[in-house]
Amino acid sequence: MHPKSNYIIMKKLSILLCALVAMTACSTKQNNADTTSTKSLIVYYSQTHATEQVAKTLQNMIGADIEAISAVMPYDGDFQQTIARCQEEMSANILPELNPMQKNIADYDTIYLGYPVWFGTFAQPMAALIGMNDFAGKVVIPFCTFGSGGLNTTSDQLKEKLQNATILPGYGVRNARIAAAETEVRQFLINSGIIAGEKVSLPEFGESQEITEETKKIFDAACGSYQMPLGTPVTFSSRSIENGTEYLFNVEMNGTASGRIYVTAMDGAEPEFTQVER
Ligand SMILES: Cc1cc2nc3c(=O)[nH]c(=O)nc-3n(C[C@H](O)[C@H](O)[C@H](O)COP(=O)(O)O)c2cc1C
Repeated sequence: MHPKSNYIIMKKLSILLCALVAMTACSTKQNNADTTSTKSLIVYYSQTHATEQVAKTLQNMIGADIEAISAVMPYDGDFQQTIARCQEEMSANILPELNPMQKNIADYDTIYLGYPVWFGTFAQPMAALIGMNDFAGKVVIPFCTFGSGGLNTTSDQLKEKLQNATILPGYGVRNARIAAAETEVRQFLINSGIIAGEKVSLPEFGESQEITEETKKIFDAACGSYQMPLGTPVTFSSRSIENGTEYLFNVEMNGTASGRIYVTAMDGAEPEFTQVER
């Protein structure tokens, strides 16, 4: 064969090869885009706007779609009236009817579920939403607000109720510390790998120790003014955090172990409890 025709064949082959490589690269890119682009929805219930505040903070940081749910018969009474209605409904096993949602949970891969803790579980409207939707295959990230605690118990309840979904660690904040939510939510999202930033990993809590006079004072300063008794501290452990110390108290009530209380004592500030785990 003439050297020139050889050259032409080689050139054609190399063009074909380049085109093939380019096509493969392009389709790989599209595949990547398809598998990595997940759609997220923040869906929440909030009666007195604390959970709403966390929901909106989350939305500002992750840019997901967002929707508040509401009951056909709204929980618009005061605290005592809500307690009474909720107790009545819970003892009769009744969940409220919800107004239809604008967004469809089925269209999303990751669902951020936000709720106030009511009687140690999700607020009634959130319980209704969970009961009437299919979360199979979804990634669920809980977030909640509470008077004293409930993130751990409600996360466990979600795992129990939504066994076909993946429930990731969530975020919870006491109503009285809602001002800290913005900073904490950002760090939570960074630590969870959802947004970019510097991860903070805290040291493990140290050895469990008997309560001392000093730690009893810290416990009392943090928990003594809460509207209901939180228990008597029996042992504690601690760890250093930026600008202070975090304590984990094991408490008992009427002589029985009744949970753990996290307390932060920041330099120059009054100690405060961040959450109770029962
Ligand atoms: C009916 C009812 C029951 C509640 N039960 C609990 C509870 O079991 N544990 C708790 O820590 N807080 C409890 N709270 C306090 C709420 O969780 C807290 O005020 C929450 O931040 C309200 O959120 P929202 O402003 O988004 O409605 C309860 C509040 C109400 C109205």
